[in-house]
Amino acid sequence: MKFFVDTADIADIKEMADTGLLDGVTTNPSLIAKSGRDFMEVTKEICGLVDGPVSAEVVALDHETMMKEAETLRKIADNVCIKVPLTIDGLKTCKKLTSDGTMVNVTLCFSANQALLAAKAGATFVSPFIGRHDDNGFDGMELIGDIRLIYNNYDFQTEILAASIRNPVHVLQSARLGADVATMPPAVIKGLFKHVLTDKGLEGFIKDWEKTGQSIPTS
Ligand code: E4P
Repeated sequence: MKFFVDTADIADIKEMADTGLLDGVTTNPSLIAKSGRDFMEVTKEICGLVDGPVSAEVVALDHETMMKEAETLRKIADNVCIKVPLTIDGLKTCKKLTSDGTMVNVTLCFSANQALLAAKAGATFVSPFIGRHDDNGFDGMELIGDIRLIYNNYDFQTEILAASIRNPVHVLQSARLGADVATMPPAVIKGLFKHVLTDKGLEGFIKDWEKTGQSIPTS
């Protein structure tokens, strides 16, 4: 499973990239607004921090303008992945861009039928929004499972990018169901490392080691 971080905060991206476990970054207009940075400038900086895909979202609602915006965005760096909404114009844009070899992430997916459309449009990634799905009384995990089943049935190569993840259990369940990627806020990635028994065990080992009076030579 690939790990993407869902943020436009440079310090957070650097911290995650330093772990060596980061495979990409997703942003959206809300995250760009939260960063307070210029969209083009911050996207370029993010693209320089990771080798993997960096999703940058178009904001136009019509196909023609989406194409123009995508043209500008894809010049930022080779690892830019154009993010388009799951609408007719978004999928038209997706089809055109992926036919030219540009990576596309189809966002705001809330049904398995929508994910089927995204795959037919040649999307590189489809982003089902688990957390927002749950918030509205649906089962985000059922959505991931349905999409996995459909993509397997027809051997679609579109990667399932579990998005709107709110906690480590979402990551575990997405992994069990075979999502290809999870994009997570930095706090959720950090949460994956934590276990109370790891902390307790480490504390015990260090205490016992100190009793030996020994040290491991470091040079
Ligand atoms: C995905 O690409 C989106 O940026 C993101 O996961 C949305 O998450 P939210 O529902 O927490 O805003």
